Amino acid sequence: MDFDRMSPYFQDRTALLVKALVILAISWCVSNALRSYMRLIHVPGPRLAAFTNLFRRSWVKTGEAHVIHKKLHDQYGTVVRYGPNAVMVSQPEAIGKIYGFKTRYQKSELYDVIMPRITGLRIPDVFATRDENVHTQMRRPVANLYSATKISTFEPIITSTMQYFFRRLDELFASKDSELDLFNWFQYFMFDVLGQLTFSRSFGCLDKGDDVEDIIKNNWRYFQQIAPNTQMAWLDYLWRDNPLVPTSRKRNPLAEFGAARIQERMSLTEDEKKTIDERDYLSCFMKEKAKDDTLPDLFVPTWVNDNIVAGADTTSILTTAMMYHLLKNPSSLSTLRREIDDAAAQGRISQYVTWKESQALPYLEACVNEATRMYPPFGLPFERVVPEAGLDIGGYFIPGGTRIGINPWTVQRDVSLFGEDAETWRPERWLCDKDRKAAMQNGILTFGAGHRSCVGKQLAYFEIYKLIPSLLQRYDVALKDPSEEWSIENKWLVKPSGLRVTLAARN
Ligand code: HEM
Repeated sequence: MDFDRMSPYFQDRTALLVKALVILAISWCVSNALRSYMRLIHVPGPRLAAFTNLFRRSWVKTGEAHVIHKKLHDQYGTVVRYGPNAVMVSQPEAIGKIYGFKTRYQKSELYDVIMPRITGLRIPDVFATRDENVHTQMRRPVANLYSATKISTFEPIITSTMQYFFRRLDELFASKDSELDLFNWFQYFMFDVLGQLTFSRSFGCLDKGDDVEDIIKNNWRYFQQIAPNTQMAWLDYLWRDNPLVPTSRKRNPLAEFGAARIQERMSLTEDEKKTIDERDYLSCFMKEKAKDDTLPDLFVPTWVNDNIVAGADTTSILTTAMMYHLLKNPSSLSTLRREIDDAAAQGRISQYVTWKESQALPYLEACVNEATRMYPPFGLPFERVVPEAGLDIGGYFIPGGTRIGINPWTVQRDVSLFGEDAETWRPERWLCDKDRKAAMQNGILTFGAGHRSCVGKQLAYFEIYKLIPSLLQRYDVALKDPSEEWSIENKWLVKPSGLRVTLAARN
């Protein structure tokens, strides 16, 4: 056979085949893009964002997604398409529809991105698992451990850590008239409290007056790294979860600290274990696990990890937000101070305020509610997947399979519910009749809603309701530079840049 003479023929055939394949691939992409575009064409939103998730990813990269999402709602309305298959909603009535106990919508792939990894493998935890059966299995045994009754048994631990916190502030700042970053110190306090509550061992941040082994820094770096891909979860398959890419084995000092404490506990004799009983969360977790040996061994470390990762930064951010707004609004601060001082003078509260005492301070409650409304520590829509039957919302039909969510930063600024001044700090809005207050509470999503809502909300409030009035009783707190505005960065967790203050002991 004369191959030389036949080669042009083969070349023509190959070129033709390649051309056909390219045309087929392009047509497939175009028809897919068109189909996906048409599915939600009736929902308003930025045109180009309807074709690719790159836009919403880039908004998260800016660290200002909560601001951009609010602007999109202002421009397009309460239901906005912000990705090819993603819709966000901002009206308060939608909370029950999307997150209600009856609907039980499944979490979206966003949660795969935030799920912890151990040597490249995803480890489901209560927060991130999308599997409802795994969720029930993980949440049910521990849910009661976060009830007000149970937390009350841990109250002395919170009080003693608070006493130590104030001792350190006295030694290092109040007695020396030197400034401090209160946000950092709230973080040291919250990490140490959770260390004590979880393992009867603090991380040592208050002692050191600094982060220990970069635990706090690593936690924040984690959120910074993962946040953009929450909007485009498949990108993780290319890199982070790709078996062909060598797994990065960076140290995780927080997980190591937890693992070491679990190991210590396991090596105790049965008699020693009895003396510990239900002293802390770890002992309670181990007890729950021992009751049911069908529960996988991994549950204990994931419960432990969730306590710190979900509980420490979030609570210190909310506490800082409340202090920031009080300091920026002197009339609010002086009203709160008056309430606290009167209560102290009448012997209604002690030096280290108890949870029970704090519940009789209505202006304090109004300030906590207002901080919870204005500054939710999580700043992206909590995404769910619309079930097959679809969803009617705000006059739009959203087909099954769509990712849908509400960003607490937008719904909690809804003027129809919170008033024309919804952008402004005004705790007085909460000093209203019972029905109005309940309606506003139903429009709050800071702790999520429904069966996936925050298990630790009561614990976070315990800490805040005790800490703030005790702190204000003890010190005059002032902003170092009252004209300075703080900056905040939204990487799913919305982190303030800091809170520089001076402290003066009050008596
Ligand atoms: C101010 C403090 C806190 C805020 C703002 C907060 C916020 C949230 C939110 C929004 C969710 C639901 C997320 C979603 O639907 O995707 C959640 C879930 C969760 N939180 Fe919190 N949280 C706080 C404190 C805590 C604390 C102190 C703990 C534990 C010690 C904790 C443990 C959890 C857990 C385990 C879940 C998963 C619940 C489930 O899916 O069943 N959180 N939190």
